[in-house]
Amino acid sequence: MERTFRIQRFDPEKDDGPGYREYRVEAAPTDRILDCLNRIRWEQDPSLTLRMSCAHGVCGSDGMLIAGRCALACQRMVREYEEDPICVEPLPNFRVVKDLVVDLEGFFEKYEAVRPYLMPEGETPERERTQSPEDRAVIDEAIRCILCACCTAACPITEENEDYLGPAALLRAFRYLFDSRDAAETDRMGLLDAADGIWGCKGHGKCTEVCPKDIDVKARLMETKKRLRDRGRGP
Ligand code: SF4
Ligand code: FES
Repeated sequence: MERTFRIQRFDPEKDDGPGYREYRVEAAPTDRILDCLNRIRWEQDPSLTLRMSCAHGVCGSDGMLIAGRCALACQRMVREYEEDPICVEPLPNFRVVKDLVVDLEGFFEKYEAVRPYLMPEGETPERERTQSPEDRAVIDEAIRCILCACCTAACPITEENEDYLGPAALLRAFRYLFDSRDAAETDRMGLLDAADGIWGCKGHGKCTEVCPKDIDVKARLMETKKRLRDRGRGP
C-alpha cells in the first residue's frame, strides 16, 4: 500500500525557514520509517538529507521526530502509525543543519564535560580491571545508551535552558559515578552539583518515555541526585 510522509525540509543556504513537503511512497506495514525515507531519497528526491548508519538500532544516528515523538527511524515500523500523513521532523531543540540532520556538537560537548571515561586509582593492572557481576549489574542498563540524543531532544528542560547538561550526559555521568572501579566520585559530583547539572532535572520523565534502548533514564538521574544528597551536596 502507499503511505504519505510529510517531511520537514530546510536548507539554511537557500530557504528563509523550514517548510513541509509530502511524498507518497509504497510502504508495507513492516517497513521501517527509515526504509521509507530511503525510498524517497533514492526514488523521488535525492536532496532529502538525513543521517543514518547501522540501520539496526546500534549507532544512534537516525534520531528524529516521528509523529511528534523522538525516535530512531530504523526502529519504528509503518504499521505503528495510523495517521496519514506520517509527519517526520528533525529532533527538536537542536539547530537544523539540513532537513532531518541536526547539529549535535553541543550535545557531545556536554557528554565530554561529564568526563565519560573510567578514572580509577592505582597502577594500571596487567589485565583488565574486573568487577563483580553484582557491581556490573548496577550500570548494565546505562551502558546500553547509544547517544542517539532522543532523550535530550525530548526533555522540556533542554527546551527552556540550553546550558542544561541534559539526560544523555547525566546518564553517562551516572554510569561512571556508580562504577565500582571508578575512584573519582568527588570530582564527578563536583561536575554534577550545579543548577545546570543534575539539579536541572525536574523529573518530567520524557527521557524514559522516548529512550529507544528502554533505559529508565529518569530513575538513574534520581539515583544520582540521591547519591549527591547522601554526600551532603545539593541546593
Ligand atoms: Fe538515546 Fe536512550 Fe541514550 Fe538518551 S539514554 S541518548 S534516548 S539511548
Ligand atoms: Fe543506526 Fe538507526 S541507523 S540506530
